[in-house]
Amino acid sequence: MAKRKREKYPVFHYKEYFGRYSQLIPNYETFLEYLKTPMPQYFRINTLKISHPEEIKNLLNILKAKGANFEEVKEVPYFYRVLNNEEISLGNLEEYSLGLIHSMTLASSLPVIALDPQPGDLILDMCAAPGGKTGLMAMVTNDQAVIVSNDKRIDRLTALVSNIKRLGITCAITTRYRGEQFPFGIPFNKILVDAPCSGEGRYRIGLEGEILYQKGTGRANLPSIQKGLLVRAFDLVQPGGIIVYSTCTINPKENEEVVDYLLRKRQAEILDWESPLPYHEGLTEWEEKPYHPSLKFTKRFYTHEIQAVGFFVAKLKRLA
Ligand SMILES: C[S@@+](CC[C@H](N)C(=O)[O-])C[C@H]1O[C@@H](n2cnc3c(N)ncnc32)[C@H](O)[C@@H]1O
Repeated sequence: MAKRKREKYPVFHYKEYFGRYSQLIPNYETFLEYLKTPMPQYFRINTLKISHPEEIKNLLNILKAKGANFEEVKEVPYFYRVLNNEEISLGNLEEYSLGLIHSMTLASSLPVIALDPQPGDLILDMCAAPGGKTGLMAMVTNDQAVIVSNDKRIDRLTALVSNIKRLGITCAITTRYRGEQFPFGIPFNKILVDAPCSGEGRYRIGLEGEILYQKGTGRANLPSIQKGLLVRAFDLVQPGGIIVYSTCTINPKENEEVVDYLLRKRQAEILDWESPLPYHEGLTEWEEKPYHPSLKFTKRFYTHEIQAVGFFVAKLKRLA
């Protein structure tokens, strides 16, 4: 008889798992109900390959003719919410292979909007694979920045390289370093740290109340990895330069506490930025541990309020 495969991680019941956040998450009961529905999927148009409004209109008609049902996201340009995700796999379409569209969660646009990449910027995407945010940064700069897209995992770098190629990006180069050891000497003026995290913003609730897509518990000490990445990003960016730190988790120990750690260790300032999607201010304390008052300028995005993966975004400036 075949041995039963051991679960990789213990599977939690949602009440047991999310209970710790019942006072933190706005409209907690609505949040729980929302997690019982499938995660909405999104795609964006890739204006590096198709930019004329008439051509985009034709493309959208072709996608519809092929069975995709979607609606425009008014708040974030070029993003569309797929309404019949169970029936269509966008990744199998020719338009996807040609790089005209790219599937990515709407929330992934938020760190890029906060970083505000401009043509001529020298940007490090420290944890870049599979390249959703590198791709968007290349697009909003019209392929006119220089982006170093780094990731420590070779298997994920393969996907990153393939996405860069498929999306027609020429301004990105790829490197493979542990972010904490990324070499000094390149005068980056912007750095994105889209850190590895427990991914709670992606969790859903299964039919028996079990948490689906759970990966975090029992993994390596994520907060200490995240702190190492953020401190290195600070040391790599030019004085006056910008760092955006983001995760797709709710856990304050992976979010505010990591940013608070940087503020204690280095001369950095948290900047406010204009978000197109609804958010809540970052926490200034958690489990009786106070954080720097300026942590309120970080932003928390909850899945039931933005209809996408939950995110945390902090925008920081290196002061000295
Ligand atoms: C949240 S994912 C990044 C998603 C990516 N930014 C995107 O938009 O497609 C986190 C990434 O961090 C990478 N990673 C984990 N530990 C790392 C480290 N110490 N240094 C650099 N990358 C790391 C993982 O391989 C993973 O690809």
